[in-house]
Amino acid sequence: MSLKVAVIGAGSMGMNHIRVLREIGDERARLVGIADVSAAHLQHASGRFHVKGYSDYRQMIDYTSPDLVVVVVPTAMHYEVASYVLARGIHVLLEKPITDNVQEAQQLLAWAHHTGAKLAIGHIERFNPAIIEVKRRLMAGELGRIFHLNARRLGPFPNRISDVGVSLDLATHDVDIMRYLTDAEVQQVFAVMQQRVHQQCEDAVQGVLRFANNVVGTLEVNWLTPTKVRELSITGEKGMYVVNYLTQDVYFYQNDYTVTNWDALSSLKGVSEGTMTRLKVQKAEPLRLEYEDVLTAIEQDKSPTVSGEDGIAVLRIVHQLLASAQEGQHRKAWDEAALVVQG
Ligand SMILES: NC(=O)c1ccc[n+]([C@@H]2O[C@H](COP(=O)([O-])OP(=O)(O)OC[C@H]3O[C@@H](n4cnc5c(N)ncnc54)[C@H](O)[C@@H]3O)[C@@H](O)[C@H]2O)c1
Repeated sequence: MSLKVAVIGAGSMGMNHIRVLREIGDERARLVGIADVSAAHLQHASGRFHVKGYSDYRQMIDYTSPDLVVVVVPTAMHYEVASYVLARGIHVLLEKPITDNVQEAQQLLAWAHHTGAKLAIGHIERFNPAIIEVKRRLMAGELGRIFHLNARRLGPFPNRISDVGVSLDLATHDVDIMRYLTDAEVQQVFAVMQQRVHQQCEDAVQGVLRFANNVVGTLEVNWLTPTKVRELSITGEKGMYVVNYLTQDVYFYQNDYTVTNWDALSSLKGVSEGTMTRLKVQKAEPLRLEYEDVLTAIEQDKSPTVSGEDGIAVLRIVHQLLASAQEGQHRKAWDEAALVVQG
């Protein structure tokens, strides 16, 4: 059975969605329409992919009656567009972050539950083959207990983003992956943020997350670094994995802790340098795997891998990071004022 799919938003990420849908092919997913308020974006996308374009997504939904709608509009528009679609009982693949505020995210989930529509969130790194391989090894106990995760997601500022800061736009990826790999909820957060280039929002965040199982996650995310870095390291009892999200490479640095009684190394008891191995990863485009997952969820009536609940959990944590940073700013201002008063 082929599912009818429509895409709302044919901007930078929307073009990737449309391309992947075309690659999947009509037998499984038939692209019935795309909608965008920008005539230029619409013309470009419908010309390139030979699909009918609509300036009004409501009209597109009426005319095409899709089974699945993919929402790829700016984050500030997620709620308005996704709630319209979910309220009609149509399945939604919604780009990350679910929304920019928890209240609207909960409302989306309520619509999905009410109408029985599936809501999948586009936390695409879940489908990065490097993460799939690391998760498989963690579950097999190859790292032993996890101690610490460290994420670095750095790069230049993308001019098209004006509605959210780097925490909602990028750190959501890392928070989602940390929750997934540790298989635990966050209990404590701390963050420092900076606004250097962005007009409205923060463009750098350094955060610390403590999970319920005592794993600690640290993250460094910014739009300030003139080269793109997407890395994650996971340190545990038996060594460390280092993931490069961009190349989908995974390296394992073995902790050779059973190696020797040699006196000179006794001070390193518990941890010592072992072999470094580049692990075999079956490379593939994450967005393609994300679609396979969502289409299968609809076909087999099961939950998508990244649910609306996951989207809300991530959003809550990012808002806690924002609150922590804001509290730090207030405390700093308070301390500085106190210093002035003291003379
Ligand atoms: N998963 C990922 O790795 C990833 C990467 C990039 C962006 N995204 C997400 O995708 C979404 C879009 O980001 P982008 O970079 O493509 O932005 P963009 O600005 O390039 O594209 C957004 C498009 O939506 C259109 N649009 C705005 N309001 C609309 C409306 N009411 N109806 C129809 N179209 C409308 C705009 O005209 C534009 O063409 C964001 O939520 C972003 O967080 C996810």
